[in-house]
Amino acid sequence: MVLVAGGAGYVGSHVAKALRNAGRQYAVLDNLEKGHEAAVLGAPLLHGDLRDQDGLRAALRSAQPSAVMLFAGYTSVGESVRNPSKYWANNVLGLINLLQAAGEVGVRRFIFSSSAAVYGEPQSIPIPEDHPKEPTNPYGESKLFGEKLIRWHCEAAGAGAISLRYFNAAGADPDGELGEDHRPEEHLIPLAIDAALGRRPELTIFGDDYPTRDGTCVRDYVHVTDLAAAHVLALDHLEDSTGHVAYNLGSERGFTVREVVETVASVASRPVPHSVGARRAGDPAVLVASNALAKERLGWTPRYADLSTIVEHALKWRAAHPNGYGIEA
Ligand code: UFG
Repeated sequence: MVLVAGGAGYVGSHVAKALRNAGRQYAVLDNLEKGHEAAVLGAPLLHGDLRDQDGLRAALRSAQPSAVMLFAGYTSVGESVRNPSKYWANNVLGLINLLQAAGEVGVRRFIFSSSAAVYGEPQSIPIPEDHPKEPTNPYGESKLFGEKLIRWHCEAAGAGAISLRYFNAAGADPDGELGEDHRPEEHLIPLAIDAALGRRPELTIFGDDYPTRDGTCVRDYVHVTDLAAAHVLALDHLEDSTGHVAYNLGSERGFTVREVVETVASVASRPVPHSVGARRAGDPAVLVASNALAKERLGWTPRYADLSTIVEHALKWRAAHPNGYGIEA
């Protein structure tokens, strides 16, 4: 039994579906603050919050998982800069509670949702896992500290863990059952789609004076279903191993913000109204993963590597769900 903490959220729900497709037994634990009940497909949903130690203990005792996957946590870089304590309380203290409770019921396998934000401003591109880690915001710091907490926990408990450092998670379930519904939405692809569909007046491009081919930031977009597949591979890889390892999950290809806007316009067959605004604080110019280690050690190959396919799936879900997981229009 795998406990998917945060399994009602964007990445967590896609991973839960991949577990279901792989015939694994799992349960979702979520406080539904950011997640959506409708994103939990045919699995038990345990309501619980990582900050509630007693509730967490009770959930783990009842589920008796052999592995825990952790997606629960706050993910907004900008908010983390404005309110760091909120990130320490959830992403760090919540993880400590989870590790304690998991230790009490003898969980020996952990998969941790980490981020490219652990690296900070890159010194070389593509970024390998052993690149220096100097996060430039509390969100990235909370993920880096989370990896360290897990590493020490594994050492003490003889357990095994894999941290997966996502680059830009994007797209939606190709079957159209799941999608991206952040509130507020801050990510480029859904915002560009909403501008194309006339659901927002325009997209603001955050800066066009970066040292890149067209002046806008370069990011490595990876399909959320490919991320999900990597989690199932990671779980199998952990079977009897101990200790902690981190893998990048990215496509090794970078696209500028303008290229993404053009791709959305082309896939939607509609223009994306946009203007250029100021840089967003804390945005590195270029973030592109080296994914060699995940390919070699996990046998992972992104299946939907093409940006147009990523945008097509995101568009399909967003067009069909104007209110996300809310009431249908
Ligand atoms: N962008 C815009 N306009 C917008 C929104 C985004 O121009 O309205 C730009 C950003 O400046 C950035 C790119 O589009 O250059 C992608 O931005 P996202 O907000 O979609 O994603 P980020 O690259 O900021 O964030 C992602 C993850 C974070 C992670 C971070 C690592 O969502 O969880 O990568 O730096 F921390």
